[in-house]
Amino acid sequence: MDISIIGSGYVGLVTGACFADVGHNVICVDNDEAKVKALQAGRIPIYEPGLEQIIHRNVTAHRLRFSSSIREGVDNSQIVFIAVPTPPQPNGEVDLSFIEKVSREIADVLTDYRVIVDKSTVPVKTGERVTETIKRYNRRGAKFDVVSNPEFLREGCAIHDLMHPDRIVIGSQSQHAVDLMKKVYEPFMAPILVTDINSAELIKHAANSFLALKISYINAISAICQVSGADVEKVADGIGMDRRIGRQFLNAGIGYGGSCFPKDVAAFIHISDQLGVPFTLLQEVQRINGLQKERFLKLIRDTLWVLREKRIAVWGLTFKPDTDDVRSSVAVELVDAMLREGAHVSVYDPKGMEKGRELKAVADAKFEKSPLEAVKGAEALVIATEWPEFANIDFAEVKKQMTTPIVFDGRNLLNPETMGELGFHYHSIGRASVIPR
Ligand code: UGA
Repeated sequence: MDISIIGSGYVGLVTGACFADVGHNVICVDNDEAKVKALQAGRIPIYEPGLEQIIHRNVTAHRLRFSSSIREGVDNSQIVFIAVPTPPQPNGEVDLSFIEKVSREIADVLTDYRVIVDKSTVPVKTGERVTETIKRYNRRGAKFDVVSNPEFLREGCAIHDLMHPDRIVIGSQSQHAVDLMKKVYEPFMAPILVTDINSAELIKHAANSFLALKISYINAISAICQVSGADVEKVADGIGMDRRIGRQFLNAGIGYGGSCFPKDVAAFIHISDQLGVPFTLLQEVQRINGLQKERFLKLIRDTLWVLREKRIAVWGLTFKPDTDDVRSSVAVELVDAMLREGAHVSVYDPKGMEKGRELKAVADAKFEKSPLEAVKGAEALVIATEWPEFANIDFAEVKKQMTTPIVFDGRNLLNPETMGELGFHYHSIGRASVIPR
């Protein structure tokens, strides 16, 4: 199939690369000329395991190219995907101005039938707006169908998620458009669910909010574990073994972050309010998520007494491992909070240093070259992102480097017993603290 993707951000780029890899001809379009030039020169603006190789392989095979012209994309494809940002506004409402603008731009260059697919995460009923807009601005009266096809990939394992999806959701009223979409996804051999557009749009917000709810649920349980002497990991295993519940997304921590869950939960709350059916359960999900970070900070304060002038090392800046994305990262919020309280913070992240340096919130932190450099002279170590390499560090050496061996593990990455045997004061989430005599 000939496909164009408008928007070469995270979703657009990964989707374009994977579509090309299964044999489609793909043009990735972006209005950022510098980004398009970089991509044309083989430079990939984001870190995602495996992405660079896939892009290079498909560019070489002439199945993938980059352009800054929507006209070029629309002219040369049967199917046009929209994958532009839908950022949050302060009141939680989604800013749909990029979707609206791209809809007008597509309408402007539309001469023959095209399937216009929305892949960006949007509120229910956006498809109706896109349809109206294209009709209004498409003066030549070219035929088109609008489809909602939400994306479920996770950063850090995006290629795997895209290549092996649990399901593909296609929302459309047009059988012809559905048939073309099925051809696009045939090589992925995944279950396909066909719905109306509104249901497809709602599925995305409902799915992300449910996953966020699972995280807040286990985080609320972690608080009960902490005060009752139970172990949240064991509780998560015990409830997760029930297949109706499942163990995934039951990892307690410092709260969910990233560019999706916080935004999508807020958006879903806003939409349900607007529709006159307030989704109060999600307000609680949001509240628990914020509390989890505050509880962790309180644990640090209660242990260290005063943060002012304390030397604190933080491992992790990204919102999760295997990405360089620091947007809405709880790790960044923690560093910011400790800096505000007067602590001297040194940070290290395997991939998040470059993007982290651009953030005002952590500008006063010291960016170190390695995890061991970061802990030199530290009075406490905070683990804020569960990068697997942090678990494999020689903690005997870490202890030697630190002034006082106190660890706050916000992701339950390490084993409490081992840390105790090494002589650390070890605190984690929803598990008993280890204090050596
Ligand atoms: C999420 C969804 O998982 C994807 O299915 C969806 O496509 C994507 O949003 C999106 O809407 O584009 P993502 O935000 O990339 O993906 O990453 P997740 O792996 O879901 O992690 C989100 C946050 O939840 C992270 O901060 C992570 O640390 C936290 N988390 C996750 C937990 O605290 N506990 C868990 O058990 C799982």
